Amino acid sequence: MTGRTPALDTLFTRLHTRFKERLTDAPEARAAVAGDESGLPPGDPAGVVWPLSTSEVAVIAKEAALLGVALVPRGGGTGKAGGCIAQGGELVVDMSRMRRLVTLRPQDLYAVVEPGLINAELGQAASEVGFMYPPDPASFESCTLGGNIATNAGGARAVKYGTTHAYVWGLTAVLMGGEVLHMGRRSIKGVAGYDLTALLVGSEGTLAFITEAIVHIVPAPPAVETAWLAFADALGASRAAERIFAAGLVPRMMELLDREALAAVRGKTPFRIPEGEAGLLLETDGRDEVALLELTRMCEVALEHGATASAIATNERDREAMRRTRRLVSSSLKELFPFKISDDTAVPRSRMPELLTAARAEAEGAGLAFAAYGHLGDGNVHINLLCRNATERARAQGVRRRLLTTVVALGGTITGEHGIGLAKRDLLDLEQSAELIALQRRLKHTFDPRNLLNPGKGLPVSST
Ligand code: MLT
Ligand code: ZN
Repeated sequence: MTGRTPALDTLFTRLHTRFKERLTDAPEARAAVAGDESGLPPGDPAGVVWPLSTSEVAVIAKEAALLGVALVPRGGGTGKAGGCIAQGGELVVDMSRMRRLVTLRPQDLYAVVEPGLINAELGQAASEVGFMYPPDPASFESCTLGGNIATNAGGARAVKYGTTHAYVWGLTAVLMGGEVLHMGRRSIKGVAGYDLTALLVGSEGTLAFITEAIVHIVPAPPAVETAWLAFADALGASRAAERIFAAGLVPRMMELLDREALAAVRGKTPFRIPEGEAGLLLETDGRDEVALLELTRMCEVALEHGATASAIATNERDREAMRRTRRLVSSSLKELFPFKISDDTAVPRSRMPELLTAARAEAEGAGLAFAAYGHLGDGNVHINLLCRNATERARAQGVRRRLLTTVVALGGTITGEHGIGLAKRDLLDLEQSAELIALQRRLKHTFDPRNLLNPGKGLPVSST
């Protein structure tokens, strides 16, 4: 463990009276908040504190700023970029106990939530009043809304509904130093001042703590229909997808599983995956007959353009089995390839066939196994370099840099939904100019002049 500094000792002493057993440096508690799902090694937090309110977060931030102690905000720990990993000596501020659904106002199309509320819990509460909260990361049963906002999380329904940023209307935020700020709106419209709410969405806990959010909810569509299509390969699925969009049809999910992704999940769910070397999960929603008509039409278009089989689920159990099959891909591949590198590349949709071809060629050329799966409809496919050990992973890093260079050349981004965190901070310069990175550093300095809030995340390491 990184040695406890006198400043940290003083912080523990000052916070103890208020937080008591909600503040600890016990090794097991530190270990429980040391990592995430990025595949990066766990970090070395000096301790962990569990606040229960905005004012408690403000107290922590004020005292830590006075003493020069760095803090790391943490949600469900399901992040894929190391954004909540303490690198050494920081105090982790675990927001998971601030998990109230403060207000649900379907008549005004919003809910007010605390950051530790689980995504699925908001979804459940909204559905009980006939509404939905659209952003649905694969980890929706365990990820927190605060984490979703910090990373501007995506998910499978983004192809129709967009990502988290479209659903955050307002925030309560706490700056390092303890200042509490309320920003944004409760009305459908609102453009006063700079859009600081939008700036905080996706800022990976580097600018402020998020302690409450006003999030947009939408009426739940009366019908949801789900289908599975089989293809000879991923490229075929990608080309059929283009034809579906060209026909003016918009699914609410369009998820790809290539050969390796299918092999990893086959037999793991009740859904009997049709024969084929690639699968496409399609979902539509809307009025009963419209949802089914549109899904049927999408299947027809796909069958006319390369699909070898299609199956439309006839009940909710089968629909959920199809969706779960897709959601299992990431963890199933991880079991087989514990050192895999998973990138969340996104390209303009029409460039997807080029990305799939280039990525496989690059990986296989370096002797690495490869998988591609995910949000094909968004142009956001998870390119995985499948590594069994550390040696393969080290080799894969070079491949990854070349691959991400190709992604940027195709007009894409190195991260479509997981963020920069620690995992990609040294790759950001592939996509953004030195001037743009410098401007972000100045913004960071404005919010957090002493670099005490989640230091080292989101931007390349720099001595300046
Ligand atoms: C997913 O879509 O399954 C998640 O974003 C996780 C991932 O596999 O990278
Ligand atoms: Zn994803």
